[in-house]
Amino acid sequence: FIFILFLGNSLVSLTFHLFNLHGLIEHFQLDTMKLRRFLVMVQEDYHSQNPYHNAVHAADVTQAMHCYLKEPKLSKSLTPWDVLLSLIAAATHDLDHPGVNQPFLIKTNHYLATLYKNTSVLENHHWRSAVGLLRESGLFAHMSLENRQLMESQIGDLILATDISQQNEYLSMFRSHLDRGDLCLENPNHRHFILQMALKCADICNPCRTWELSKQWSEKVTEEFFHQGDIEKKYHLGVSPLCDRQTETIANIQIGFMTYLVEPLFGEWARFSNTRLSQTMLGHLGLNKASWKGVQREQSGSADDVDPTFEEMDSDILPQEPRLS
Ligand SMILES: *[C@@H]1O[C@H](CO)[C@@H](O)[C@H](O)[C@H]1NC(C)=O
Repeated sequence: FIFILFLGNSLVSLTFHLFNLHGLIEHFQLDTMKLRRFLVMVQEDYHSQNPYHNAVHAADVTQAMHCYLKEPKLSKSLTPWDVLLSLIAAATHDLDHPGVNQPFLIKTNHYLATLYKNTSVLENHHWRSAVGLLRESGLFAHMSLENRQLMESQIGDLILATDISQQNEYLSMFRSHLDRGDLCLENPNHRHFILQMALKCADICNPCRTWELSKQWSEKVTEEFFHQGDIEKKYHLGVSPLCDRQTETIANIQIGFMTYLVEPLFGEWARFSNTRLSQTMLGHLGLNKASWKGVQREQSGSADDVDPTFEEMDSDILPQEPRLS
């Protein structure tokens, strides 16, 4: 009971604590009542009935983001403004997530698909919802309009980067910067690009946690996919990739996810910030993948079955795509 109570308020407690820890309340002269009210509104706009995309996932991502911000490579050059935007973007990055993915919204003619023209539909909605709550809370009403607008658009850049279907674009940019060794963190544009990469990492870092934790997140996300698949079957909408409980398994989904999305991203991140944290995350990732392969072997008698769905991910085939963030 106490555990549930804690999880029920984890996003508010954690984010408030991190604001305090980073000295943001003092630096930006924030009204703590308004801050708390803002965070409560954020937490309440997550759907607690979603198995995965709920406020606990948001708290998990915010916690991970905080850890990446503390990495020496980054922390030296970050301004309070950067930290403020990063924490707000992390806490709000899946705000009001409906528990179904973009292809589902498109094929059911959901108003959000129309509103955002089939493009980063969910991420645009999370961002605009965050902006709505920021304005409603009046948390930054004491700042200039110019700064508030800048904040809104920069939070948008961060949240939109979590669209997993765009990962290849972000990753190849990251890779070329690292190959050329030309990242200059005194340059605000470069810094904000790294913050986008950090948020992308935070968003899909579940497989980099210890097996026990990682496994639970995997079960949760699969439950959400399969629930969507059940609805699609019931209404004859055509079952989306990864959503069919008859043909998919958690192990297959996770191995594909790790191989095509998580490993490439964290591999580059470790090149950028080669620390003990990065090495630990890569270590867990390797062990977790081996564990899922063990599960897969038990289930099918073969471990060569890597789900190609993720490999086929490309912005050109956006409507068929699964969304894992
Ligand atoms: C969004 O996708 C649907 C289904 O493919 C299509 O009918 C609609 O015209 C698209 N809307 C836009 C703005 O591209």
